[in-house]
Amino acid sequence: MHGDRGDDGQDPKEKINYRATFHMLSGLMRPEKRGFAVAFWWLSLSTAMNLLSPIIAKYIIDTAIPSKSVRLLTAVVGALFLNSVLFMASNYLLQMRLVRTGQQIITDLKKRMLAHMLALDLPFYAEYPVGRLTARIQSDTSSLYSLFTETTVTIFRDILMFVVTFGVMFYFSRRLTLLISSVFPLVLAISFVFLGKSTTLFVAVRKLASEISGFLTEHINAIALLQAFNREGMAAAKLEAINKKKFDTELRAEFMMIIFYLSIVLLSPVSIAIILGVGGGWAIDRTISIGTLVLFILYIDKLFEPVFRLSEHISIIQRSFAAGHRIHRILERRPAIVDVPRPRYIRSIREGIEFRNVWMRYADDAPWVLKDVSFKLPKGKSLAIVGETGGGKTTVTNLLFKFYTPQKGRILIDGVDLPEIGLNSLRTAIGLVHQDIYLFPGTIMQNLKLMDEAIPDSMVHDAIKTIGLEAFFKHHSLNKHIVEKGVNLSAGEKQVISLVRAMTLNQEVLVLDEATSHIDPYTERLINTAMQRLLQQKTMIVIAHRLSTIRHADNILLISEGEIKESGTHAQLLEKGGIYSKYYKLQFGEEPS
Ligand SMILES: Nc1ncnc2c1ncn2[C@@H]1O[C@H](COP(=O)(O)OP(=O)(O)OP(=O)(O)O)[C@@H](O)[C@H]1O
Ligand SMILES: [Mg+2]
Repeated sequence: MHGDRGDDGQDPKEKINYRATFHMLSGLMRPEKRGFAVAFWWLSLSTAMNLLSPIIAKYIIDTAIPSKSVRLLTAVVGALFLNSVLFMASNYLLQMRLVRTGQQIITDLKKRMLAHMLALDLPFYAEYPVGRLTARIQSDTSSLYSLFTETTVTIFRDILMFVVTFGVMFYFSRRLTLLISSVFPLVLAISFVFLGKSTTLFVAVRKLASEISGFLTEHINAIALLQAFNREGMAAAKLEAINKKKFDTELRAEFMMIIFYLSIVLLSPVSIAIILGVGGGWAIDRTISIGTLVLFILYIDKLFEPVFRLSEHISIIQRSFAAGHRIHRILERRPAIVDVPRPRYIRSIREGIEFRNVWMRYADDAPWVLKDVSFKLPKGKSLAIVGETGGGKTTVTNLLFKFYTPQKGRILIDGVDLPEIGLNSLRTAIGLVHQDIYLFPGTIMQNLKLMDEAIPDSMVHDAIKTIGLEAFFKHHSLNKHIVEKGVNLSAGEKQVISLVRAMTLNQEVLVLDEATSHIDPYTERLINTAMQRLLQQKTMIVIAHRLSTIRHADNILLISEGEIKESGTHAQLLEKGGIYSKYYKLQFGEEPS
């Protein structure tokens, strides 16, 4: 179920496009050029201070102490102290600068991703589950954070440190430096073997962790269903299995890490033993000074550190590129439906809406969902669409709102082809009540305003009055707090709220995709009354399951298997004695009056 997602949701076989990703990453850093320049300045200073202290120590041992001058000794120790203070200060300034620069980049990136995603179309959201998208914005951006704050800079520091350390050591004793360097291949080998192994394992751990969080999201969302069908135990067992696998993998990864660190830790005393053993012999010969030995001992870790950090850097870079690639894939995605260069704006609809021989399917290999659908909806009139489940009713609204594009045929508003009409103006002119009602956590009032504080309360009150729902809102305070997904409201209440919500913006055309849920006769009457008023006032498309709500529509279409099978007024369709009249009788169990 989650197995196909690969590392944090990436197809494992998918090749990372390093060039494009590098381009994107450097593009992200570019606006922060100044920040990085300042960081590099502090970095150079702190590295210099770091490398200077062993040289000062050598000077103390080889020169200041033998000179027996307390004043010189005090002065040089003072310099050593000052050096440490400067090292601390420049390091502090470096870290602060990096954190700020990194945060800035990540914040900008998140902003850009969110803005980008909000403009993407529904087919995109059908492809990417919500959980994965949140992961893109949250965890992938934070993987990049360590790249921007630490890695980029530490790589330079390590190169700098290695070269300078090697140079200084070489300067003071060529023999000893070459001797010590013979350990490098061993350091590199240990790093690549153990760190490499643990990196692979940690990738697997991260994949399992994302699997677990995906599993949790899915199952917590479905908690009512699981409990109703007594499936908590099954879910728990599945979760335990993944958890166990993650535990084992993590343990192995940590084991590799521990072996790695222990071998590195061991290298240090071994090297010091070499320095003291071999170098000590040379000191007896007086071919090397005691101060130089001390300098080597103090330098040895500085020399090894960059080398064994190399594979760590490589793994962070790999991870960042994987994250960067996933981010890039979303950012490069263009909305499938975009405005033409000079879109038409519809300020107000003058004639009406027309579907002309529209064919639609959701994928090239999927069956046709709409087949040769044609209808006209003149301004001020109402059109009802009824028909079996899965017949294609919602698809009609999906096309009208340009959520999807039909493969064949034309959709016209005032004779203008839909593709030529600006998305913004289209969706300003037409309001939609979705079949799946989504409510935000917040008050009813906030929901009626679509969480947009710029909309005045008066618009909401007007909407309530227009459709005659004052009585309903006497019992349901506008200040009532709706919890997530509106679970503290009944299905009927949600419908009333979504109806008023669509009315609040007072759009010219209203499309209602009615939910199937049943509501009590009282609320049904309320909604029916509201609907009668609406049908008279607005240009409307109503998709109805309760035929009582659309009896008075000017035209009724019966869609079945993607085709318009019947059309006409309520009376005409009843008289025809076709599918519609059968539906009607089924619902009301009587001959209509
Ligand atoms: N986003 C989608 N991707 C792929 N197929 C889809 C999508 N939405 C709907 N379909 C398919 O298209 C067909 C028509 O769906 P549609 O939602 O238009 O039906 P409907 O008439 O609104 O049904 P209902 O009365 O149950 O709401 C169905 O077979 C459905 O499985
Ligand atoms: Mg539907």
